[in-house]
Amino acid sequence: MNQFTAFTRSSIGRKYIVAVTGVLLIGFIVGHLLGNLQIFLGQEYINRYAESLAALGPALWAIRVGLLIVVLLHIYFTIRLALDNRAARPDAYAKKSHVKATLASRSMAISGLLLLAFIIYHIAHFTVRVADPRFALLKLDPLNRYDIYSMMVYGFQNVLVSGIYIVAMFLLALHLSHGTSSFFQSLGLNDKKMTPRLARAGRVFAWLIFAGYTSIPLAVLLGIVKPAQSL
Ligand code: HEM
Repeated sequence: MNQFTAFTRSSIGRKYIVAVTGVLLIGFIVGHLLGNLQIFLGQEYINRYAESLAALGPALWAIRVGLLIVVLLHIYFTIRLALDNRAARPDAYAKKSHVKATLASRSMAISGLLLLAFIIYHIAHFTVRVADPRFALLKLDPLNRYDIYSMMVYGFQNVLVSGIYIVAMFLLALHLSHGTSSFFQSLGLNDKKMTPRLARAGRVFAWLIFAGYTSIPLAVLLGIVKPAQSL
């Protein structure tokens, strides 16, 4: 067994892989949020941003494949860790105790799986654009670009769609609020003072992400962000 295989089979190695892939995913989540918030600057900004991403061509595909590999590694090693923990337990607990576990920590697997389902729906909705037939009716913007701005506005004008996104963002925040504190534990940080502070910082971060993302469907539903073209 070479060193790399030994690393991926050890509990600490698996924890590191989950932590590092988690950080990479957080990087994507923050970047994606900052990109999307440009909707508040108007059609010109967000359409230019979307076009510059599309112009990356093969590099965009490399990023997509990289992201997919990161997601798969994150899921695979999380499952392996959970199975290891179960195997290490001599007997199933006679009585389940959730005294110390928070809602976020108990729901990591379910929030993670539901997020995966959301991402599949989200890509069908906004990237492949097969979930809403109205998107095909959108005209190009004044600079002959795909009008991603109006696509987002028409998409979120549907209360059910906005509701799905808001619930998914809630699950994301729940997942991140626990994931961030697990991250510091994986790094071996166990300090009486610092550990609770870092856990609190992680929770604040998670709910800022929630507020940032949900502001978009909410602004559309409240009529603050309006379509730039009629259908
Ligand atoms: C209100 C919330 C969100 C909005 C408005 C939004 C918006 C968008 C848009 C417009 C696209 C298509 C980009 C394009 O084709 O040019 C996209 C793609 C994508 N989004 Fe989101 N997004 C949101 C939340 C999320 C979240 C929470 C995640 C992940 C946890 C996520 C992951 C992705 C992924 C993986 C893609 C595909 C990227 C690609 O392959 O090009 N999105 N999003």
